[in-house]
This record gives sequence, C-alpha cells and structure tokens, in this order.
Amino acid sequence: MVVAPRTTRAAFDTIADPMSASPNAILRPPHDPATVLEDRFRAAIRAVAGIDADPQIRVSANAKFGDFQVNAAMSLAKERGANPRALAEEILALVELGGIAMKCEVAGPGFINVTLDAEYISAQLADLSRSANFGIPAATDRHAVVVDLCGVNVAKQMHVGHLRATIIGDSLARVFERLGRKVWRENHLGDWGLPIAMTLAKLIRERADFARLTLDDLNRAYRGAQRETDTSDLAAAHANHCGLHRIAELEIQYEPARAAMEDAKKTLVRLQSGDAEIVRLWERLIEVTMEQVYDAARTLNVKVGPDNNRGESFFRDRLGGVIETFRASGHAKSDRGAMVVPFTDRERPLLIQKSDGGFLYATTDLAAVRFRTFELDGSLVVYVVDARQRDHFKDVFDAARLVGWNRTADGTESTLVHLGFGAVLGPDKKPLKTRSGENFTLKDLLDEACERGTAEVTRRAADPASPTHGLAESELRAIGTAVGIAAVKYADLSGDLTKDYVFDLDRMIAFEGDTGPYLQYAHARIASILAKSGESTECIADTTLRLELPAERALALHLLRYAQMTLDVGRTLETNRVGAYLSQLATLFNGFYQACPVLKADDAATRLSRLRLCAMTRAVLADGLSLYGIIAPDRM
Ligand code: ARG
Repeated sequence: MVVAPRTTRAAFDTIADPMSASPNAILRPPHDPATVLEDRFRAAIRAVAGIDADPQIRVSANAKFGDFQVNAAMSLAKERGANPRALAEEILALVELGGIAMKCEVAGPGFINVTLDAEYISAQLADLSRSANFGIPAATDRHAVVVDLCGVNVAKQMHVGHLRATIIGDSLARVFERLGRKVWRENHLGDWGLPIAMTLAKLIRERADFARLTLDDLNRAYRGAQRETDTSDLAAAHANHCGLHRIAELEIQYEPARAAMEDAKKTLVRLQSGDAEIVRLWERLIEVTMEQVYDAARTLNVKVGPDNNRGESFFRDRLGGVIETFRASGHAKSDRGAMVVPFTDRERPLLIQKSDGGFLYATTDLAAVRFRTFELDGSLVVYVVDARQRDHFKDVFDAARLVGWNRTADGTESTLVHLGFGAVLGPDKKPLKTRSGENFTLKDLLDEACERGTAEVTRRAADPASPTHGLAESELRAIGTAVGIAAVKYADLSGDLTKDYVFDLDRMIAFEGDTGPYLQYAHARIASILAKSGESTECIADTTLRLELPAERALALHLLRYAQMTLDVGRTLETNRVGAYLSQLATLFNGFYQACPVLKADDAATRLSRLRLCAMTRAVLADGLSLYGIIAPDRM
C-alpha cells in the first residue's frame, strides 16, 4: 500500500525547518485526528518500549485500508532486532482509542491501519466549525516575523521579478498572520546612493518639472544618466595601454561624461548632508516611483503601502556603526584601504567599505539585519529576493552571525532565510520579454491578466443560466480582475518557489485544471448551492453532521487537516502546500457532490448535514485562497 507522506520535500534544504528553533514548532492543531492519534500511540509506545518515539502517523493513501497509518513499529523493531508485526500487535493491544477509532489492525510488514469512528470525525468537525480561526492554534512565540518583500528601486519600472518578490512575500506574511504572529512587511527599496544622485542631477540639469514628473521620465533620466557618465572605453584604453594619442582623444570626448559624474557626486554630497532643496526633490522621485508600486499592490491585493517602506536610505546613519562593530570585534580587516570581512570557510571576503570610504549594498543589509532582529524583534527574517542574490545573502547572514546580530533583543537566536525564487520565463523558456523584445513591465502583465479575466467572465455572463447573467459591467469587471489576478498568483505560488516557471496566461486563467480561477469557481458554485437552499446560515451551522457515505467522510477528514497544512507552510515556507491542499479539497468536494445529492437529499436531516459540509468547504476554500491574497467572489 502506498502512503502519502505528511510532509513533502522541503524546497530550501538549508532551512528545512526555519521554525524548529521557535516554540511554534510544537504547535499542534487540536481538531486534526493525527494530533490525537499521535498522543495516544506515543503513550502506547512508551508503555511497550519504554521510550518516547514519534509514532509516525500518516494519512492513508487508500481509504479502503483505513484513514491513517501508524508506521513506528517497523523502525523501532529494526533498532531492537525485534519482529515488527509482533511489536505492532503489542502497541495495538495497549493503545487507548475508545470513542476515536472503530477499527485498528496490523497489516503488511508491521504498520497499523486505523479507521476512525464517523461520530468522532463529525464531533471534531463540529467543534472546529465553532472554534475561531479554523482550529489553527495561536502562536506562543511573541517574537515577530519579518518578511523582506517587493524590493523595488527608485526611478525604475517594476518588472516581473518584483511580481514574485511581492506576491510570495505577501502570501508568507498572510500565513504568519493567520498563525497569530506579529508580522513586519519590509520593502527594502533601493532609494539611496550614486545611481539615484545621477538621476536626480540629470533631471535638475534638464530643468525637469518635478511636480509633473512621471515614472517614464524617471526611467529615461536614469538610463540617460547611466549612458552619459559611462567612461568604460576610456578605462579600457588605459587598461590596454593604448597609444597616448588615442587616450588624449578619448579624454576630450569624455569630458562631458566626467562633468556629469562630478555633478552627480556633488548632488550626492548635498543629499547626504541633508540639503533641504535636494532632499525635497529626492523625496519626489520616491513618490513618483512608489505610485506604481501602490497601484500594483492594490490590483494584486497585497498589503504593501507607504508604511512598509524602509529603504536603503533609512539605514544611512547606521553604516558607520556597522563598520565600527566589525572593526572593534576584530571581524573586519583593512585591505588596501578598504574594509573586508574574511570568512574561514571560503576565499571570498565580504567587502563592507570601499577604499574611498563609500558603503555598499551589503553594508546596508547588515544594518538592516541588526534592525530587524534587535529592533523589530524578529526571530524569523525571510528575504524574498531573486535566487541570483544567493551569495550576497550567504555573506551577509554569515557576517551578521559573526558579530551576534542574529539575535532578538532578549537574546533569542533568529533564523535568517533567503527565499531565493526562480525567474519568470516566456514561452521560449527565456526571461519574459514583450513581442518587441523589451522587458515586460509588471503593469503590462497585470493589465493583460485583468483584461483576459474580464473577457472570460463577460463571455460566461452572456449565458442566461449563469449566476452572473445581468450583472452590471462594473461588477463583471471586478470579478474579472479577481480572476485575472488569481490566475497569476496561483500559478506562481502553487509551484516550487525556487524554480523558474513559464508564464502562460492561457493555461493559468483556465477555469479547469490546477488553476486559481478553477478554485474560485469551485467556491462560487458552493456559494450558489447554499444560496439556492434557502436555509439560513445559522440553521445550517446548528445541524448535526452525519457522515455516512465514504465521500462525506473523505471531505470531512480533509477539512480537519487545514490547520496542519497552514502550520506546515509556516514551518517550511512552501506556499505550494496551500494550492495542493485546496485543489485536493475541490476534488474531494466534487466527489462528494457527485455521490451525495445535497439539495435533493432523501430527508431533511441529511440535506442540512450536507449543506453544512458545503458551508464548511466554502469557508475553508475562501480562507485558503486568502492565504494567497486571492479574492473568492460568490458569483462567477
Ligand atoms: N533593491 C534590491 C534589488 O533590486 C532588492 C532588495 C532586496 N532586499 C534586501 N534586503 N537586499 O536587487
């Protein structure tokens, strides 16, 4: 018999269990039968073998053999050179399962199959539906979780990479909020340093109207400033020892580039020293850049707003202190005028200050680590940033540990995790580009998704039998937008985050298959069954659950596992577990709906009991989708 493992492979082997150090690792959902079985079998194993061992409870893959399977006897027997079946029989003789299981037997090489009592399942489910928060136990860890997300750069357009950093980060934040943790969403925007001063200086030289700036203007100025100050040919000529004549020629040619760079550096100095006029203009650049971010956040239904901005500039006064801490503790040394942090296990040191005194991206990130653990009290800090920054974060985290900055204010060790996500690819398996070969901006992509969603919803609404028939255009558009965004988010979050994925809107937006719109549709269908029943929510909620048919039982058992799934996402950061859970829920619901008439059930009690299963499935679907920040409309 094949058994579905309770946990799948952790996507991030270095952090297989980022919460293991925290008290939340032991939180267990009280309604999940696996929790109860674990306790009971643990006690029996202790009585038989005199040790405290994990009973290894697994959900049975085939309901024919029972609901759960207990595997511990096999490994225990192996350790002690005993007969596994005999050991399993001994455990079975002692385990206390009265009122919980109706059948329990040893099978195969020595596992124990458990079939639960239907009354027990319905009692647990009834209790769950009355408990707050779907039976998810409240976190006992009072430390915060910090999620570094979005990470846009001033004067630059958001592209699809920021899509992932934003929606993955927001989804994890939602999961931790659901688990009762204090969560900080931190947008570490690139808003400081020479490139920005270059852009600013160029706009000032061009007498740009700052009140009327658009993001396109900023983009142009940014790129223009890069081009204008580019003296790489001259540097190359020097490096290649070109003739003096050639170098002199280039010197003249690059005179404007030098002047522009001088100008940018002067602007940077003024900005750094807090020159009011320059600071005002700089703030304007941030404002213009962030408008698109807030727009995208609204469309995407992610909670990223002005309160989440803590960009590089926030840390500017702390960079000197970073160098000082590393120097004073002996962890940094000077190398030809620069400051570097050497590591014992690798050649490459981490540069934290340039020889001209300038600071680096890593210096700011070190200050940010300290801020997040010590000041924000984060015992878990998750950096949702492109996988290509892996070395950067490895260096930063290792350096932070050297000086003990991986600790909260009360000295608790913090877990620092880089969740390095893969790239978004086009149909040609290369980084996503528009037809004209330009980088896809996030706005283009979201506009297209919302258009497609609206077109599909409008097409369906034309059918007089559709529950959306006759809705106003604005309502159809709202539903269509939710569908388009669900398509994009679900495709992203339900896969292995560390892998690249192909952006294929046709597949993502389909109402069939493993898609966001499919789950929304399943939700809307249940909502319409409930509406058609004419029964009140209270009446449905007060009904006794009767789980007579296998399909009812399977659905009920899966509902009881929602809390454990949510805890597992918090433990592993694998958002795909939500999608896998929900699509299985939808499948089980379909099986139930086919096998068990609801509105036309034989008697009133059965009808109400089944309606209650519908109501609970609807609620869990909506809540699960909300972990992805996906809206579940009642009509589609
Ligand atoms: N702005 C950065 C970039 O575009 C991303 C910031 C990620 N967060 C961080 N703490 N470094 O690469």
